[in-house]
Amino acid sequence: MHNVLLHIHPAKVSEASLRFNRTFGLGGMAALLIVIQIVTGILLRFYYVPSPADAYNSIIFLKSQVIFGQFIRNTHHWSGVFLLLIAFLHFLRVFLTGAYRDARKINWLFGLVLLLLIVFSNFTGYLLPWDQLAYWAITVGTTIISYLPLAGNGLRTMIIGGKELNAGTLQTFFNFHTAVLPFLLLVLVLYHFWRVRKAGGVLIPETDEKAEMVPVMPNLVFREFIVALVLLAVVLIFSALVNAPLHEKANPAYSMNPTKAPWYFAGVQELLMHFHPFFAAFIIPAGVMVFLAWIPFIRSGDKPTRHWFFSEKGKQSSKATALFAVVITVAGILFNQYVLNFEIAMPKIPALVSNGIIPLVILLFLMAIYYWIYIKRLRLSRSELVQVLFVFLIVAFIVLTIAGIFFRGKDMELTFPWRV
Ligand code: HEM
Ligand code: HEM
Repeated sequence: MHNVLLHIHPAKVSEASLRFNRTFGLGGMAALLIVIQIVTGILLRFYYVPSPADAYNSIIFLKSQVIFGQFIRNTHHWSGVFLLLIAFLHFLRVFLTGAYRDARKINWLFGLVLLLLIVFSNFTGYLLPWDQLAYWAITVGTTIISYLPLAGNGLRTMIIGGKELNAGTLQTFFNFHTAVLPFLLLVLVLYHFWRVRKAGGVLIPETDEKAEMVPVMPNLVFREFIVALVLLAVVLIFSALVNAPLHEKANPAYSMNPTKAPWYFAGVQELLMHFHPFFAAFIIPAGVMVFLAWIPFIRSGDKPTRHWFFSEKGKQSSKATALFAVVITVAGILFNQYVLNFEIAMPKIPALVSNGIIPLVILLFLMAIYYWIYIKRLRLSRSELVQVLFVFLIVAFIVLTIAGIFFRGKDMELTFPWRV
């Protein structure tokens, strides 16, 4: 055991890197959740049958006849949700401690790939129960692909093997879900670990550089063990208390209302309600992905402090920008719903302009005003400016996602849960 641990960790680590508020143990938690997914996934495979005729019944059988069947299904479901949330938080912590530069550049890029793999793992798993929720969420989710310019429709047909979800789609998703994606995840996580070691371990602030080096056993390993036990307890208790959803068997002739994409795509679906699909499903998501991948390569010219949010000014501007992003996103959603829908108000103008270019220009204009009035005066470094943009995009995305999940009801109308 000692040997295995020393293959993952170096013999000694800096005491400063052990501080919980440096990493919150999030990377290790994500790794444990992947292990839980693989173990519970393999157990589910003993009963699950990937065909439209049998998939749903195999889950009913699993729930009602198999000892701990319901519990294992719940654990797989909730740990998949936790994995996405924890990997997202880890991504935020890595960015906000500035741990994406120099020797960590490549790991940042591979981290982004890992995040995508986790989204795809969740997405392909979502279809497998073949109930109404699965069928219609994946129908909407894959429709987003068809909005991509030129190749969109063809790409969707290729991915789902036809115009509508069918037996082939289920088989393909099953193969990706239980073989291709777990394999890629495992390989990349191991590579990710290796790169963390190669970069000299977790990044620590320059003020802590003289901190003492301590043996990894028991210092780090003991802490990891505690975090793992607590996480395991939370996942298991949650799974014992809350059942994974299962609706009626999929019925392609009768759609659910509202028809929502899986929750992690609710933000994109919400964006589609306000922007032309060319912008909502292509330009904006692609722009954000390019920005995220480009971050480590932006020349900053400043010396990184490696502190959370870089500096006091960095923290202050991030807080203000988070507030600005909440206000502007909520205001945009309400404005489009209740005051003026550009597409309806300007029927003679092509939708690409009325529903795409015009609202985007207005948004950029408001961001420019915010910059001139507030951000410019702070004289931020280039890294801090990148941070401001990052915070804006992430907070806007979170607000859109929350709106899509909790505030869209029948016919995707804006509804307020407290009014019901
Ligand atoms: C990162 C890895 C994984 C994630 C995020 C993930 C996620 C999911 C999700 C969200 C579902 C739908 C659960 C539901 O609500 O019904 C699911 C179902 C399923 N997964 Fe996974 N999974 C992962 C790995 C695996 C692996 C490695 C296997 C098997 C080798 C597997 C086998 C299954 C099976 C058989 C189902 C259908 C059973 C059911 O829906 O209850 N999964 N997965
Ligand atoms: C399956 C998902 C992932 C796993 C299992 C994982 C695991 C880990 C672990 C264990 C560490 C060591 C320090 C820590 O725990 O924070 C780490 C560091 C790191 N991760 Fe991840 N990670 C994942 C996803 C990501 C993502 C989405 C990103 C960002 C896009 C990322 C970028 C990094 C970087 C740059 C480091 C080095 C940080 C430093 O030196 O302080 N990782 N990861």
